[in-house]
Amino acid sequence: MNILVTGGAGYIGSVTVNRLVKAKHNVIIFDNLSTGNKKNIHPKAKFIKGDLLNAPQINGAFLGNKIDAVMHFAAFSQVGESVKKPKKYLENNVIGALNLLKAMQTNKTPYIIFSSSAAVFGEPKKTPIKEKAERKPTNPYGVTKFLIENFLETYDKVYKIKHVSLRYFNAAGSSRDHKFGEIHKPETHLIPLLLKSIKTRKTFTIFGTDYPTKDGTCTRDYVHVEDIATAHITALTYLTKKKKSKEYNLGSSKGYSVKDVIKTCEKVTGKRIKIKEGKKRPGDPSILIADNKKIKKDLKWTPRLSLTQMIKDAWEFEKTL
Ligand code: UFG
Repeated sequence: MNILVTGGAGYIGSVTVNRLVKAKHNVIIFDNLSTGNKKNIHPKAKFIKGDLLNAPQINGAFLGNKIDAVMHFAAFSQVGESVKKPKKYLENNVIGALNLLKAMQTNKTPYIIFSSSAAVFGEPKKTPIKEKAERKPTNPYGVTKFLIENFLETYDKVYKIKHVSLRYFNAAGSSRDHKFGEIHKPETHLIPLLLKSIKTRKTFTIFGTDYPTKDGTCTRDYVHVEDIATAHITALTYLTKKKKSKEYNLGSSKGYSVKDVIKTCEKVTGKRIKIKEGKKRPGDPSILIADNKKIKKDLKWTPRLSLTQMIKDAWEFEKTL
């Protein structure tokens, strides 16, 4: 298939492109490189440097290539930054997605896999979180993903564009060949920050130690980025066969605390991490764990790679930077 991958030079986008290329798809990456990285552009994919806010540019990507399906990764994704700069997030993520949908409609591309987020749920009332749980985002980033999920429902009803929204929990690791991975500037995510603090011998700060969890630190549901890439490929097959729109919570249904992750990083690298206990980061929910029964049942997807493997791969990738 000819697959347009927006944000294909980003973290999860590039790992998925690697897999699509291996599966012999014809991949067209559309990325403005604002947060994506040249290192993450797959040499066997066609690359268009373009901006989703530029409607003629994204439409041009469809005109020049017979696009069968879209995987839409391109977005700003930092929760903390979105609180400080809500307009930046609304503009880029929401208007960008609308321009993309308009181009799909104009060029009659019927399928889209959308990178949604656990952030659509905000502070969940119950964990593990089921797909049907109330969506009540608590930060502008989550609001943008929530709005786009709603647009997708409307585009299905009105224009018959079918979607699968995959709500990521915590992505981690790199491609198994360690060629594609996490390069954020600045880095804000737990595992790359821990590994960087090992490399630079800088002290790592735990954001809050009095959460109502087993050891007082936040609990998250980590999924290997290769398992996330697999979910995209499986979702695309499902969509083209069943032609039915779906939303899935993409998690492992297992929770690890910040302290669990620190211990695993120390075990994998054989190095001690200097730790400081700091204040809570505003907006961090104490526990986020997915209920993954629905995606397991419908797509036969199951997370295969462990937290240890995520950290091993992230560490190997970190060494290439
Ligand atoms: N953490 C620290 N110290 C740090 C960085 C992180 O203690 O220096 C803690 C955080 O407080 C949190 C955990 O590590 O408890 C994980 O933090 P990340 O920043 O790695 O990930 P988040 O869970 O905050 O965010 C992820 C995605 C978002 C998504 C969100 C869903 O990165 O895009 O899950 O709520 F929106």
